Amino acid sequence: MMVHNHEVVIIGAGLAGTRAALEAAKVADVAVLSKIFPSRSHSGAAQGGMAAALGNLDDDNWEYHMFDTVKGSDYLGDQDAAEILAKEAPEVIYEMEHMGAPFSRTPEGKIAQRKFGGHTLNFGEKPALRACYSADYTGHILLHTLFEQCIKQGVRFYSEYQVVHLIVKDDICRGVVAWDIRNGGLQVFRAKAVMFASGGYGRAYRITTNAHANTGDGLDLALRAGLPLEDMEFVQFHPTGIYRNGILMTEGARGEGAYLLNKDGERFMKRYAPTLMELAPRDLTARAIQTEINEGRGCQTPEQKAQGIPGDFVDLDLSHVSEAKLRAVLPQIFDLARNFAGVNVAKEPTPIQPTAHYSMGGLPVNVDGQFIRDAKNTPVRGLYAAGECACVSVHGANRLGCNSTQDATLNGRRTGRTIARDVPHLSWEDVPAEDVKAAEKDLDWYYQANGSENVADLRTRLQDTMMVNCGIYRNEKDLKTQLGIIKELQGRGKKIGVKDKSKCFNSEVMEAMELGHLLNFSEVIVIGAIERQESRGAHARTDFPTRDDAKWLKHTLAYQEPDGRIRLDYKPVTITRFQPKERKY
Ligand code: FUM
Repeated sequence: MMVHNHEVVIIGAGLAGTRAALEAAKVADVAVLSKIFPSRSHSGAAQGGMAAALGNLDDDNWEYHMFDTVKGSDYLGDQDAAEILAKEAPEVIYEMEHMGAPFSRTPEGKIAQRKFGGHTLNFGEKPALRACYSADYTGHILLHTLFEQCIKQGVRFYSEYQVVHLIVKDDICRGVVAWDIRNGGLQVFRAKAVMFASGGYGRAYRITTNAHANTGDGLDLALRAGLPLEDMEFVQFHPTGIYRNGILMTEGARGEGAYLLNKDGERFMKRYAPTLMELAPRDLTARAIQTEINEGRGCQTPEQKAQGIPGDFVDLDLSHVSEAKLRAVLPQIFDLARNFAGVNVAKEPTPIQPTAHYSMGGLPVNVDGQFIRDAKNTPVRGLYAAGECACVSVHGANRLGCNSTQDATLNGRRTGRTIARDVPHLSWEDVPAEDVKAAEKDLDWYYQANGSENVADLRTRLQDTMMVNCGIYRNEKDLKTQLGIIKELQGRGKKIGVKDKSKCFNSEVMEAMELGHLLNFSEVIVIGAIERQESRGAHARTDFPTRDDAKWLKHTLAYQEPDGRIRLDYKPVTITRFQPKERKY
């Protein structure tokens, strides 16, 4: 088997991975492995902006940003991480600007900033203009800027390499085994430092903004290696996905003035968030939309009307904003609404529904990006993570819009710096033969699978049922039903058939592997959600409708035991400046 030796191996080429690579490459030989071509990474789908209190158009400052992040997190976010995010964000923006990122501009030539959900001035008084943006292509321009810089700096990219095994022995990470998707076959990547920047997992849900590649592979690789996942029960639903396909209609639309309307044409957010209205945080806004639908005030398609079926979407209305402005600042959603909803946003509302968007939980890391293995914050030598796959935890139970592009870039930079600091002190470790054999055995299993179960059927069943039983609203009965379904699907997953035996671009094998990951971490989401008997942020339990700080102001850690059972542990939240309070918007 081919063995590569790179001092640093980064898994994932989105904002976190490329930003970290730039830092680490100043002192070390860096390889980035990506299952897709780097500039197709899902960071490129981020539309509305990147949060930083530049104060270009108002009196914003980092303390307001920190407060909003902590309050938005429903006080589960670690406040040391939130303080770092809010303080360092402006520098990260200017650094991106100096690398060549083409931000939109104010008439005087400053970086333009728009309103976004939960961003406020003076600790909640009124909306802030905090989101720095490039029309509604912000993720795309950031990603391309960082990719170009990496190329300039000699970072080595291995495109279309799927990591299949994480090598950790004696608490030291030694590298990974990856599958060369283009040519077939496994290769060992031996490394002194391995960093996960492998993104999120929206594909566990049927309605999602996420790309097909977002199957949470990195999370499950860590879980299988005996490492924990943190706060997986917190799954963010973005309020505005295009009806029936979930494609993102940026919150920037509401930042530019869009209304949310129910079937009576009412701006219903006034009943849920009288101060911020459509610019309330995502958890609250998504619940408001779902409540309107559940209580019979959803909008109806002509067919639903004719058949007397209750509507299951609401309207996002921009028709009062001038077409010239929309075309200038929201060109992408103009196209998306036309192509995927048949709507001209300048003239008519877009039907929308909440859509699975972001994972607040993930691989536990400290504020320097070191992977931590337990409630005592013990780092795993040579292992790091940043971006959506990681849980710092800056977002706690609910992330604010535009804090993810910032988190990924800022914590990518911090983690890259930690790696650059650590690499001279890390040594090359042996790769145990049993790890290589285990990876070979796993891959062979997929090629030889000749059962009667169909991967797409199992995946669809998981996605449909996660929507219903582990979506915006949850309760014990539904969650337990979902756990049963996952167990059943895991059993059926052992009897799949793979017909395509070819070596190159075998997407059937790839999808089968991804299904295994989806099922494994979904079990963790559901078990964490069953145990957490309270409502906090994106975790809304109808049977425990209030937040319970006395019992649940703590992070969940989930481990997979050798017998496959999931074991939970908990660790405290870091609280520095802001004591938990009731959230009102
Ligand atoms: O609505 C949006 O543009 C999404 C931004 C985000 O997830 O931060």
